[in-house]
Amino acid sequence: MQTTYTKEELRAALAPLRGKRMVLVPTMGALHEGHASLLRQARQLAGAEGCVVATIFLNPVQFDNAGDLATYPRTPMQDLEICDKCGADVVFMPSSDAMYCADRSITMEETHLSSVLCGASRPGHFAGVCLVVNKLFNLVQPTDAVFGKKDYQQLAIIRRMVRDLDIPVTIHGAEIVRDEDGLALSSRNVRLTTEHRAAAPEIRRCLLAAREAYASGAECAMVCASVRESLENIPGVRCDYVELVDAETLHAVTDTHRLALLAVAAWFGDVRLIDNIELSRS
Ligand code: PAF
Repeated sequence: MQTTYTKEELRAALAPLRGKRMVLVPTMGALHEGHASLLRQARQLAGAEGCVVATIFLNPVQFDNAGDLATYPRTPMQDLEICDKCGADVVFMPSSDAMYCADRSITMEETHLSSVLCGASRPGHFAGVCLVVNKLFNLVQPTDAVFGKKDYQQLAIIRRMVRDLDIPVTIHGAEIVRDEDGLALSSRNVRLTTEHRAAAPEIRRCLLAAREAYASGAECAMVCASVRESLENIPGVRCDYVELVDAETLHAVTDTHRLALLAVAAWFGDVRLIDNIELSRS
């Protein structure tokens, strides 16, 4: 595995690999088993002939909260080991200065899917994601890229960006990886208190119960209210949102025959957790 830190080093490492299937896995570091599964999926897509490029960049532009950026876990040595073990061929690990010009003045905004869910409570977040992912697509020029379904809205926005800007890359969604007790893996989980870590699997329990309720015809508003009530019964927990939306448009369900998505963001103390589940009725 080759580790690169500048755009020039990255371009030089990728030059002999051009023409092969190239699968990109963008990450912000603090890698866990969820990222490992993205890398393994990428390795499988690339096959023995192709190559896997992982990027590790804690993108400051997508953080709407300075405290969240400051406390975001950083484990660079462990991250490189995981990339190596999961079959990455090239890792790009730039500093912020190597990635962005100090006087950068171009922004990238998706205006429809970003207006709801996390986009509504984290202004500028998805513009930052689109900017960095677009830069990574330009630098790496992958044939494919893999993103996790835990960030379902991010995945939908990236698919939309690729479609609307004709970016020649195939996007793959990877299933959510969970701890044995059902908590979706997240780099932020390590910041939970012992009590909140013990209570956090309640999110998954609520999502599963909601799936049953929706399948048997419960009203969207009732499904959401029940999830909110269960989560807010946990001391120190406050829901940012609990929303049942169309899985493609991310806006209100208008046709219950289409795939729906129940998405949750909840504060467990000062740690914001997200999770989701696809729902259908037929
Ligand atoms: O999902 C993430 O870790 C980040 O949003 C991404 C896609 C790597 C962009 O910084």
